[in-house]
Amino acid sequence: MTAATGRPALHFTTRQNWINDPNGLLWLDGTWHLFYQHNPFGAAWGNMSWGHATSTDLLHWTEHPVAIACTPEESIFSGSAVLDRANSSGFGEPGRPAIVAVYTSALASGRQAQSLAYSTDGGYHWTKYEQNPVLDRGSTAFRDPKVFWYTADDGTGYWVMVAVEADDHRVVLYRSDTLREWHYLSDVGPLDSPDGLWECPDLFRLPIDGDPANPGWVLIVSRDPGRTGTGSYTAYLTGDFDGERFTPHPGVGLRRVDHGRDFYAGVTFDGAPGGRRVMLAWLSNWNYAEVTPTDPWRGAMSIPRELALVTGDGAPELTQRLPAEIEGSDSWASPVTVAPFLLEGRRPLALELPSIVDLELEPRGATAIGWEWTVGDTLVARVEYEPASSQLTLSRPDPSPGVHPTFASVERLTVPLTGGRLRLRLLLDHTSIELFADAGRVTWTDVVFPGAESGGAVVFARGGQALVAATVRRGERGDPIL
Ligand code: FRU
Repeated sequence: MTAATGRPALHFTTRQNWINDPNGLLWLDGTWHLFYQHNPFGAAWGNMSWGHATSTDLLHWTEHPVAIACTPEESIFSGSAVLDRANSSGFGEPGRPAIVAVYTSALASGRQAQSLAYSTDGGYHWTKYEQNPVLDRGSTAFRDPKVFWYTADDGTGYWVMVAVEADDHRVVLYRSDTLREWHYLSDVGPLDSPDGLWECPDLFRLPIDGDPANPGWVLIVSRDPGRTGTGSYTAYLTGDFDGERFTPHPGVGLRRVDHGRDFYAGVTFDGAPGGRRVMLAWLSNWNYAEVTPTDPWRGAMSIPRELALVTGDGAPELTQRLPAEIEGSDSWASPVTVAPFLLEGRRPLALELPSIVDLELEPRGATAIGWEWTVGDTLVARVEYEPASSQLTLSRPDPSPGVHPTFASVERLTVPLTGGRLRLRLLLDHTSIELFADAGRVTWTDVVFPGAESGGAVVFARGGQALVAATVRRGERGDPIL
């Protein structure tokens, strides 16, 4: 194990023990509710229950007692939560709607079926429905229900559930008027190679290029190719949804939401204000999630991202940016701006953890430009751009001693310059780096384990000059969860 690494300051972690997927993401009356896969008794996967945390600004999280606990017969796997405003389920009372969680009962028999729990106190105490499960296909890989209210063109509506048949690479869709009885609608998939799993789907509408008259639909599905290669990641399809069937746009297939190694099970908040789509993902990878060198906590959530759809090549594409709550938070120190300077070689740039670093790099003869995070002579992460090929390379070596044989990563992406410049935003925390590039078309999320020292950063230009400008905003530490 590497030397102890600091706990993330901007990213949710539990006081102790294991977490994986975000579950039941819901905004209600000014509070963001985050439930999550949690082992309350250990730092490895097991005893799966729903943990609970809340935030009013998407940066500072308060951990609450376990919301929905496992029993020896039933693990509480991933799922979602909705506010049942019209009391369609009957779990609430007129004027006091219940929050209904729809989760997977992973039963000791091996069967996986969908179940309900409800809360009438705003999400803090939960009762399991006594007639669970409510949807059972006799399957051992039917899981991760995400439920939303679908409104048809005539204004009427119903609940829609997307879930997976994980082993078959299929998303299955159901509808309900009560959340208790579900009726089959349609399937999506399988779409690609038959190995691994499909997990944690989500389905939502977004305006294309911000035009409400031109909506597109996004189907999220997380892929775990079986703990090999680059490991697990969140993917998406764009297409149309007519209330029954999702029809993918032709010719594009599944695309990655994030190009890094540690952005899995990404799903969006229900009910976010302003009709926004805010996504949270698990900041880890099934390849090595159980051996990451942190203690007494294991696993964190990504920074929340606001999603948009923009016109792309052939089909619309997803972009991501920091939500206004984070961008405009007063918990950032005043920005420290490094005025544009000509660089050839290397120059230190303050490394603050946590921080947002905005870099503007304009090649002026350089064959490679970039940013590096090092501890002593040891590289933590490097971002490098070659103007001749427009290749952005993102590298993260395995620290010493190694985390896992598949931990070291090198990803290459084509990113055009805009106005002759490369604009990169780095969100740095004690155990992660999140990169936003190309106006949010490209994001890259990786965990890093620099050890007890946080180290330093440099910007570099090789083979010629580059014009470099930078702004660094340091974040204060949130509520200490130590
Ligand atoms: C995804 C996943 C889900 C499942 C949960 C169990 O990471 O495998 O499919 O519901 O984790 O913890």
